[in-house]
Amino acid sequence: MCGIVGYIGPKKALPILMNSLGRLEYRGYDSSGIAVLANGVPESVLTVVKEKGKLSRLRDKLQRQELNGFAGIGHTRWATHGEPSERNAHPHLDCTRKIALVHNGIIENYAELKSRLSAKGHRFQSDTDTEVAVHLVEHHCAEGLKSGKKDGVLGAFQKAVSEMEGFFAFVLLSVYEPGAIYVFKRSNPLVIGIGDGENFVASDAPAVLSYTNRMIYLDDNEFARVTAKAVEVRRADTLALVRKAVTRISWTISQAEKAGFPHFMLKEIHEQPQVVETILKEKLRAGKIWFDSIDQRVESRLKKIEKIHLVSCGTAYHAGLVANYMIGECARLPVEATVSSEFRYEDPIVGPKDLVILITQSGETADTLAALREAKLKGAFTLGIVNVVGSTIARESDCVIYTHAGPEIGVASTKAYLAQLLTLALFSIYIGKVRGQLSPGQMREYIRWLQKLPGQVRETLAQQSRIKQCARLLFEKKNFLYLGRGFNFPTALEGALKLKEITYSHAHGYPAGEMKHGPIALIDSNQPVICLSPASKTYDKMVSNIQEIRARQGIIVSVATRGDAEMEKISRATFFIPRTLEIFSPILTVIPLQLFAYFVAVLNKRDVDQPRNLAKSVTVE
Ligand code: F6R
Repeated sequence: MCGIVGYIGPKKALPILMNSLGRLEYRGYDSSGIAVLANGVPESVLTVVKEKGKLSRLRDKLQRQELNGFAGIGHTRWATHGEPSERNAHPHLDCTRKIALVHNGIIENYAELKSRLSAKGHRFQSDTDTEVAVHLVEHHCAEGLKSGKKDGVLGAFQKAVSEMEGFFAFVLLSVYEPGAIYVFKRSNPLVIGIGDGENFVASDAPAVLSYTNRMIYLDDNEFARVTAKAVEVRRADTLALVRKAVTRISWTISQAEKAGFPHFMLKEIHEQPQVVETILKEKLRAGKIWFDSIDQRVESRLKKIEKIHLVSCGTAYHAGLVANYMIGECARLPVEATVSSEFRYEDPIVGPKDLVILITQSGETADTLAALREAKLKGAFTLGIVNVVGSTIARESDCVIYTHAGPEIGVASTKAYLAQLLTLALFSIYIGKVRGQLSPGQMREYIRWLQKLPGQVRETLAQQSRIKQCARLLFEKKNFLYLGRGFNFPTALEGALKLKEITYSHAHGYPAGEMKHGPIALIDSNQPVICLSPASKTYDKMVSNIQEIRARQGIIVSVATRGDAEMEKISRATFFIPRTLEIFSPILTVIPLQLFAYFVAVLNKRDVDQPRNLAKSVTVE
C-alpha cells in the first residue's frame, strides 16, 4: 500500500526522489519521508526528513534544507502499524543513524523481534513494525564486524530478512556502503529502473517512467544490489546470482499525467473510448477473437474445464460478477464469482478441472495473490486478467491476458474496470466458441456489436453536463440506493462503490427484485434511487420497481437506452446509453455512474484522486 523509491547516480537524488514519490502518492498519502546520503570525509552522512500528511507538506519542509547527496530513498505511507505521524513516517534509522530503510508490507513477528532487540539495548523511536527491520540489520552488521566476517551489508540484510515473517519490499541505504542501494522483495512489488550510469528503484514502473522505460522486475525472495552502473540480483537463500530480463514498458509518461484534466479520475474516465479501441484492436482481428497468450496447449486445457471461478476484490469483483452472467450466456458453464478474501480462506472446492480467473488492475492485491496461490496448490488452471504488465499475479498465473488500460492513477478504478469488462466479454465469447456453444452467426452478431463500442462509449460520455446538473441536484444527500437486475445488478454495486469511495456518502447497491424484501422501507421523498434500466430481458420488471419507488415519492435517476421516452417520463433525471446487446450494456451503463460519483465528490470538495483511508494497490491483508 505504501510507495517506495530509490535513486543512485551522478545527479542530485532529492528532486528525482520527490518526483518519483509524487507519482506513487496514490499508494499512500498519510505521511512521507526521504533519506539522502552525502559522501563525506571521514564518513558519509545520512539525512532524513519526514512529514505527516500529503507529499506537498514534505516538499514545503524540504525547501528549507539543502540536500546534495547522489543516493537516496523515499517513502509515501499508508499506515498499518502506528498512527500517521512524522515519528512513524519512513525512512527509519538504526540507533547509530548509519542505516536508513523504507518498507512496504507488514512484518508479522515484529513484536517478538522488537522485544528481543530492546533487550539487547536497541532504542526504538516509532510504533511501526518497520523500525524492527533496520535495527535487525544493524544488529547483524555489528555481529558481523565483531566476528570479523566480511559479508557486509548484504550478509546482515540477508540474516535480518531470514528472521522476519510476513510480506515486504525493503529499500536500504547505509553509510557503510555509500555507493549501493540494497533492495529485497517478498510478496510486495519492486521494480528496478535501468538508466544510463544511474539506476532507480520503485514500487511500480510509472514512478520512474520519466527517467527510463527499461525495468527489471524482482521476484519473491530476491535481493538486489543497485549501484549507479550495475544491478546485481541474488537469491535470498544462497545469495547465488540470478540473471534477470530487462522489460521495456510501452506506456508513456503523458499517459501517467493529468493532460489538462482537473483530476486523474476524470482524465481516466475520458480515456475509456481509447481503451476500448485498443483492446478491440489487440484482440479482435479478421473477425476473430485472439488472445496472444492462449496457445494450443492452453486451449485444449480450456476445452476440458468443468467450472469457472472468478476471484477478485472491490471493483474487480464487480467485473467478476458481470462475467458470471457473460460466461453463462456464451458458454453455458457453471461459474462462481467470489471475493478473494473469502476464496483464500474457505478451502475452495477446486481442482484440475477448474479454471480460476484472477481479475486485478494492479496485479499485486494481497488477497487475490493468495487466492491464486491457493488455486494453484489445488491443481486448478489459473488465468490472470491483469492491467499492470509484469506484476506478481501476471507472472505467477498459468496464463495472463492483459487488459491494456494503461496506468490508472486515480484511486477509484474507472478505465481499468471498463477494460476488465470488455476483456471478460471477449473471453466469454471466445470460450463459448471453443466449447462449441456459439454458432458462426451468433459470433458474427456479437462482433458486429462489439465494433460499435468505442463510438458508443464516446456518445455516453458526451452527456457529462447533464450528469453534472443531476449531481448539483443531489450532492447534499447522504444516502443513495442503486438498483439493477441481471447483467446490471453488478453495475448497481459498482455505482454505489464509486460513490461511497470518493464522496464518503453512504450508497448501497441492490438487486432490484430484492427491493420489496427490505430496502423499500428506506424510500421516501428524500431518498435518491439510481435505477439501471437499459433495454433487457427484465426491463418491464425494472419499470414495475420504479413505479413502486414513485408511489413512495423516491427521487428516481435512471440509466436507460436512448429513445426510451417512458423512462424519461417516470424519472427525475435520465442518462442514456446507445442501443446495444444486453451482454455489453454494463460496459456503457457504468459510465454515467462514474461521472455522477465524480461530480458529487467535486461538489462536496472531496479529494477525488486520493480519497481518505484508501490506497490504490492493497498489498496488505
Ligand atoms: C475501487 C477500487 C478497489 C480495487 C480493489 C482491487 O475503485 O479501485 O476496489 O478494485 O482494491 O484492486 P486490484 O484490481 O488492483 O486487484
